[in-house]
Amino acid sequence: MVRVKRELINAEVLRRQLLGWYVANRRELPWRKSRDPYFIWISEIMLQQTRVAVVIDRFEEFVERFPTVTALARAPEQEVLALWSGLGYYRRARMLHQAAQFVTTHLRGKLPETADALRELPGIGAYTAAAIASIAYGEPEAVVDGNVERVICRLAGWDESDAAGPAALRKKIHGKATELLDPEQPGDWNQAMMELGATVCLPRNPQCLVCPLTAACMTRGEHKTTQRAPMVSRTVGHALSARPASDDADGDGEVLLEQRSASETVMPGMWQLPELREAEIPAAELRMTVRHAIMQVNYTVRIRVVMAKDVKALTVKAGDRRWVRLEELAALPLTGLTRKVLLRAELMDTGSKAQGRGWTGSGKSREVKR
Ligand code: ADE
Repeated sequence: MVRVKRELINAEVLRRQLLGWYVANRRELPWRKSRDPYFIWISEIMLQQTRVAVVIDRFEEFVERFPTVTALARAPEQEVLALWSGLGYYRRARMLHQAAQFVTTHLRGKLPETADALRELPGIGAYTAAAIASIAYGEPEAVVDGNVERVICRLAGWDESDAAGPAALRKKIHGKATELLDPEQPGDWNQAMMELGATVCLPRNPQCLVCPLTAACMTRGEHKTTQRAPMVSRTVGHALSARPASDDADGDGEVLLEQRSASETVMPGMWQLPELREAEIPAAELRMTVRHAIMQVNYTVRIRVVMAKDVKALTVKAGDRRWVRLEELAALPLTGLTRKVLLRAELMDTGSKAQGRGWTGSGKSREVKR
């Protein structure tokens, strides 16, 4: 009895400390300006596996183009994928689109209001359902993502060596998250836990000196975290072939792109620069080198300027190709790498509007950036 009471008091203290810290330190993020469940949904899907800095820009563009579930449902999938370009993990965008169509057709455009009902939609699992239900509707459902798992394990002094095994540990973490959850402010509480994990209780370098929960923490940064799978390095080459628009003297030009087959398991139907047979490129033809990470692979990508007449000999065909006008690029679902290269080559700008004239330059690389 006494023990139960002490835990309740501790949870209250913890809540006050964390929520106080959150009010003072939370990042101003575009999706935090509203409690509209649609905006929360989009942001939570984008934030899975993608950094906040990348999501900020893409979120604003996405909701400007698709301000409601119905607007999203009505758009062609290619357009949805085009606006997802650069966020990666395109299956998320396809599921989001399908879920929007389901909501529009069967639920009169209104998202379900409980975590249980939200979980019935394509692409919405326990994490996303709890995030939407707690933030938009105030349902007391604990959100447990990787950051929250780490915060709880450190607080409680648990780690992967738990004798009961990983599944039991996960269950224990979920139980603790539910016990700590502030029933009065579940949305703020969940976001505060995620925010603490993302900005203070970092995997390798936890900032315990500024952590609002240090007093209650069993480990204070001594926690073991799982070793990440080692990254593999790979070098590839892609062809950048651009020319003035053939039938439109005022046009900005066009670039040769290739559409990945619909049956590919990775990025089906997306547009990319043709891949070179050889990643070794003569210095005079090297336009730039970019770094690009996909899952566990760090790619060094060499971009070669290729004349139209040489494309066939120098590249491997992996899909249908066509000359795409620069003004059209924003509307195509480009792979993240292709978008990165076209931006750096100034054939597009960050607002995704085509910029043009960049095709004239074929100078050497100035940049090796991520
Ligand atoms: N990561 C994913 N969703 C988040 C949110 N709503 N707040 C903070 N970090 C997050």
